[in-house]
Amino acid sequence: MEVHRTAEGMRAWSGAQRSAGRRVGFVPTMGCLHEGHLSLVRVAKERGCDAVAASIFVNPTQFGPGEDFAKYPREEARDLDLLKGEGVAAVFLPGVAEMYPDGDQTIVEVTNLSKGLCGASRPGHFRGVATVVAKLLLVASAHVAVFGEKDFQQLAVIRRMARDLHIDVEIVGAPIVREADGLAMSSRNRYLEGEDRQAARCLYKGLCRARDLFDAGARDPEKLTAVVRARILSEPRAMLEYVEVRDPATLSPVRVPSDHVTILVAARVGPARLIDNITLGGQST
Ligand code: PAJ
Repeated sequence: MEVHRTAEGMRAWSGAQRSAGRRVGFVPTMGCLHEGHLSLVRVAKERGCDAVAASIFVNPTQFGPGEDFAKYPREEARDLDLLKGEGVAAVFLPGVAEMYPDGDQTIVEVTNLSKGLCGASRPGHFRGVATVVAKLLLVASAHVAVFGEKDFQQLAVIRRMARDLHIDVEIVGAPIVREADGLAMSSRNRYLEGEDRQAARCLYKGLCRARDLFDAGARDPEKLTAVVRARILSEPRAMLEYVEVRDPATLSPVRVPSDHVTILVAARVGPARLIDNITLGGQST
């Protein structure tokens, strides 16, 4: 497995793979890898990629002033072992100065999709994500890039950004990987200890209640959000940020009964800010 710390080195690797006729897959991450990240590598392979690259870069521009950039877990050696075990062929591991060269002035902003949901409480977050992912996609020049549906709004922002900028890559969404008790895997779950870890289950439990209602025929978005809200509010250690019903394709708010919806939720539990979502109805379920 090759490790490249410069954009030039990474681009040369990708160019060589393309010249050799290989289909290049790319999985961007901030490291501290778990099964959710590794599943994205497998999805890239399932999509026919025979040379899969990953990146590890804790991107400062997507963290707000009071957020956890400084203490975000960094485990480079362990991450590289995991990626090697998964058959990843190359890892892009740039420093901040490589991604944001001295005097850089360019930002990428997906205006409307970045508003609301997580964008409401994290101003500038999706600008940071869109900017760094645009840079990463241009450097990796992959055929396919895979992102998790766990970060549903992020996936929508990235799809739109790649489309609007004519970046020649297929953006693929991959299903949420969960712990045995349903908690969506996240690098930030390691901030959860003891009772907070137990309490964190309330997000998925709430979403499952909405799914049960939906399966029993309920379509009213108010009713679906009410059961999720009630489950999270019943957990004293959790502080609900939002529960919303959105259109899975456009992310527009759903205000009338619909047969295909995504319910998105964010809550704080102890020191961690957690997000989760579930898509109901449509052809995929
Ligand atoms: P990070 O949080 O490390 O996540 C990297 C990728 O893994 C994202 O596409 C995310 O959606 C996916 N992922 C995380 N947890 C998952 C889970 N439980 N199941 C499935 N996929 C999961 O998201 C970022 O990093 C950054 O914002 C990044 C896109 C790398 C830009 O800096």
